[in-house]
Amino acid sequence: MQITKQEYARRRKALMAQMEPNSIAILPAAQVYIRNRDVEHNYRQDSDFQYLTGFPEPEAVAVLIPGREHGEYVLFCREKDKERELWDGYRAGQEGAISEYGTDDAFPINDVDDILPGLIEGRERVYYAMGANQEFDLRLTNWIKAIRSKARLGAQPPNEFLALDHLLHDMRLYKSAAELKVMQAAAEISAQAHRRAMQTCRPGQYEYQLEAELHYTFMRHGSRSPAYSSIVAAGRNGCILHYTENTAQIRDGDLVLIDAGCELDCYASDITRTFPANGRFSPEQRAIYDIVLAAQEAAFKVIAPGRHWNESHEATVRVITQGLLGLGLLKGELEELMAGESYKRFYMHRAGHWLGMDVHDVGDYRVGGEWRVLEQGMVMTVEPGIYISPDDDSVAKKWRGIGIRIEDDVVVTRTGCDILSSGVPKDPELIEALMAEARESAGAAA
Ligand code: GLY
Ligand code: MN
Ligand code: MN
Repeated sequence: MQITKQEYARRRKALMAQMEPNSIAILPAAQVYIRNRDVEHNYRQDSDFQYLTGFPEPEAVAVLIPGREHGEYVLFCREKDKERELWDGYRAGQEGAISEYGTDDAFPINDVDDILPGLIEGRERVYYAMGANQEFDLRLTNWIKAIRSKARLGAQPPNEFLALDHLLHDMRLYKSAAELKVMQAAAEISAQAHRRAMQTCRPGQYEYQLEAELHYTFMRHGSRSPAYSSIVAAGRNGCILHYTENTAQIRDGDLVLIDAGCELDCYASDITRTFPANGRFSPEQRAIYDIVLAAQEAAFKVIAPGRHWNESHEATVRVITQGLLGLGLLKGELEELMAGESYKRFYMHRAGHWLGMDVHDVGDYRVGGEWRVLEQGMVMTVEPGIYISPDDDSVAKKWRGIGIRIEDDVVVTRTGCDILSSGVPKDPELIEALMAEARESAGAAA
């Protein structure tokens, strides 16, 4: 499942159509990051760069110059180099950039200091995402200085800098049919991984052993990497929102909270499920679980074109506050508890975020001071949760250490929303049935 060359070309055209006359857009590829000494992190292209080029290599700069006679799309990239390719792998080179990636003109990255100032010179405006890559900010500043220093010789430095990310991030917020297909495929793989984790979980295992089942499933089905660090949190670890150590032993009676999603062709999925390690929810676990599930369902009902971004969050707050009141975990009047944000002790994060090439994807949540109105093709997560601190001695002991989140990926459709990640159960009885069935067949096989 991949974005086609034609779609990358369409995106560049759409961006260039929004650029002011006589302008140039400049985007650097992501840097290579060192993990330790001479070991590098796996390379992941910068999402904006990927969105416009599909070019997967580091040490590259993409340049868009609407109306340029010798081609509007220029790429600087590494030269072919037999020796380096023997050690580090394939490089497209300038020919490959043109034939495989649809660039109009390509130059060696080592020539960028000589050539790019000449491309900038004479353009009125530069579109660039300032502040995202400090090293590149400095290089760009130096190119501009070099042009300015030749002003007396007739060189014309640009007069205006515009935020490229502003235009690009609004484009990225609306997903095309092809993007939705990739995101659906990513969500299906992740759903399968969550099912496998439920099926293979046994008290006594370590959290990272379930992580292995997840990542095995991701890769087995075509994803090269998780979209973010997987959270596998048993028992009280489920109350640590960004727990990624995944080193604890899973005990009988624990809940296991898994927040994990694969990346496919640079698109993220983001799913959370919480299930009982021994296959059966305790009454307290089930009571909290039912509230979180009801909160999520209430949110889905207010996701549709014309509804605003925050309505789904507000819906989850109401159901969670009401539920906690019902259990005696909050005391007082519903409206007052909501207005005073008393629920934040147990539900301290928001109900979701945009989802796309970045797990916390780009796009404004407010426009002109108001919550953004949802439109067809926007993709978001819906992830309410309740976390009762293991150390909170103001609540009865039986509730302490319960951490539950349920998270799905949702696309806004013409009339409402579709759940991309419905391939993994969340109804508590279906979870118990899936786990019981897996145990039975494992028992029969033994
Ligand atoms: N996995 C990150 C998040 O749920 O926001
Ligand atoms: Mn999320
Ligand atoms: Mn998540």
